[in-house]
Amino acid sequence: MITPILIDCDPGHDDAIAILLALASPELELLGVTTVSGNQTLEKTTANTLRVLELAGRADVAVAAGAGRPLLRERFVADYVHGKTGLDGPALPPPRGAAVPEHAVDFLAARIAEADERVTLIPVGPLTNVALLLARYPEIGDGIERIVLMGGAIAEGNVTPAAEFNIWADPEAAARVFASGIDVTMIGLDVTHAARMTREHAERLRAAGAVGTFVAELFDFFSLFHLRQYGIDSSPIHDAVAVAHVLDPTLVATERRNVEVETQSELCRGRTVVDLWRRTEREPNAHVGVGIDAERFFDLLLPRLESLDAG
Ligand code: RIB
Ligand code: CA
Repeated sequence: MITPILIDCDPGHDDAIAILLALASPELELLGVTTVSGNQTLEKTTANTLRVLELAGRADVAVAAGAGRPLLRERFVADYVHGKTGLDGPALPPPRGAAVPEHAVDFLAARIAEADERVTLIPVGPLTNVALLLARYPEIGDGIERIVLMGGAIAEGNVTPAAEFNIWADPEAAARVFASGIDVTMIGLDVTHAARMTREHAERLRAAGAVGTFVAELFDFFSLFHLRQYGIDSSPIHDAVAVAHVLDPTLVATERRNVEVETQSELCRGRTVVDLWRRTEREPNAHVGVGIDAERFFDLLLPRLESLDAG
């Protein structure tokens, strides 16, 4: 069975690897990629998406640019993690192609409407485009099988002690998605930090060819932040875990729980309050990732990335 998917992203080192994993997976039909301001500006995340698709020989995959800033909050780019280009490290040429003229929200709606079956939406950046999609097309949920998003955390955050970046960047958008009633899966930091890419993984990929070398060079740069921040020489490939979970739902253990997003407090802005032990009467509204089989994740990821060099 082939699963139709749409990725909404903000490349971003780990977004790039998530896109490559989707391209290397025959079980998935990538209907298109939409971009959002997050790790870098919309202009840069869109250019980076085009560059990655072209590197993989998939310029045929349509890219549509979306929101250039969060719904309410000021734009904030994570250049301290992903660099000035948003994909610092590898020497990747500027894109040859361009995004389609449609706005990402209209592009997502059109792809979902024309699909033969309900589409799995994989947002791996701030959720601004998804919230706008729900607002502009109130019935769109009928065409969405599920939303498997990278974001949030049961425990500590990564942009503040309280919040993970994708949710913190646009907490109002995230709150809208979790309240949508659509089947939502939250792949949070608790899971992604338990499956980190190592230098050994990177060296294996560097030997594979152009794409493998690209990923290894992404790791070389991305790992600098994690070394500075956590004192570890390995990096969570956050966004690729969301795609992997769609490929093999046994990789990540989930529990159906209530998730609320803090939008009022500055101290805890963007915190995903996960009622893990059901202490409240709040209805469960998401499948929350609570564990990952890291070894099987890389047994899936690495050979597929290598297959992109196999020609
Ligand atoms: O917190 C990690 C998330 O924020 C990832 O999606 C990363 O690409 C950044 O967008
Ligand atoms: Ca991302």
